[in-house]
Amino acid sequence: MKTYTNVFDLGNLDVALKEAFEIKKNRYQFEQLGHHKTCLLIFFNNSLRTRLSTQKAARNLGMDVIVLDVNQGAWKLETERGVVMDGDKSEHLLEAIPVMSQYCDMIGVRSFARFESREDDYTEKILNQFIRYSGKPVFSMEAATGHPLQAFADLITIEENKRTDRPKVVLTWAPHPKALPQAVPNSFADFMNEANVDFVITHPKGYELDPKFVRGARVEYDQRKAFEGADFIYAKNWSCPGVSNPADYGKVLLKDMSWTVDAEHMSWTNNAFFMHCLPVRRNMIVTDDVIEAPTSLVIPEAANREISATVVLKRLLESLVQ
Ligand code: CP
Repeated sequence: MKTYTNVFDLGNLDVALKEAFEIKKNRYQFEQLGHHKTCLLIFFNNSLRTRLSTQKAARNLGMDVIVLDVNQGAWKLETERGVVMDGDKSEHLLEAIPVMSQYCDMIGVRSFARFESREDDYTEKILNQFIRYSGKPVFSMEAATGHPLQAFADLITIEENKRTDRPKVVLTWAPHPKALPQAVPNSFADFMNEANVDFVITHPKGYELDPKFVRGARVEYDQRKAFEGADFIYAKNWSCPGVSNPADYGKVLLKDMSWTVDAEHMSWTNNAFFMHCLPVRRNMIVTDDVIEAPTSLVIPEAANREISATVVLKRLLESLVQ
């Protein structure tokens, strides 16, 4: 595996899950693999879980880690080619990427959607420049349209907690005060569509996710109908993906609090587990009682971020010696 940006990079999901559970039994069993190797983690945006779990994963594998917060202490980076650089940006990404790659063996990139151009975001303009110009294995730590380390951790968590062979998993939109990217719901759909689950997506009209990620999933606009019989509820806000109207891309179309996941919503389900990638806005996305209930999996999900990252970084390390 040379890059990690989506579910297909993992290949067979059953094999990937088996590897994850083996690593969970002894997360240091491959610590020789990363000896004298360096993992560079580049953050264009804030992070708690990804920052900590990916460093932990790299160290599980015996790697050294360098963390760079681009907006704190590095030169401000220009990302557009052809720009006359007479403003506040001192360095171009086209030099910065090959320079950074001199000091490491693989690169993780966090670069959220900028909402300036749907095309730029959906072609993953920043992440793909790292893939193209670094000459090193590159993995997404949440890019403009995907968060595959999170979705792999979510799949591991579902596999660990499922009570039937093919559980019903519902991805539900929930309200939020600010415009958020579609990366988490996109990747969650990407993974659920390839997993052995009955997958349903529910959201208000206008919030349709990109068909590239929805694929054959059932979309149900009635949230109550979607929740009926669910084994897992995965809540997330996302801004308008601009599928039917590109002019609405990145907009908050509504903040309908009737979509907030509360105890009544959960009573419609098959005693479902509650999931969210975190950070979460309590009593916007989910009520206190639901996130604090024994059926809430938000902490095990976060714990599995270390496991998903260890599998991915291990596979990238293995690609270095092939
Ligand atoms: N879920 C997740 O990626 O959290 P952070 O943004 O804190 O890394």
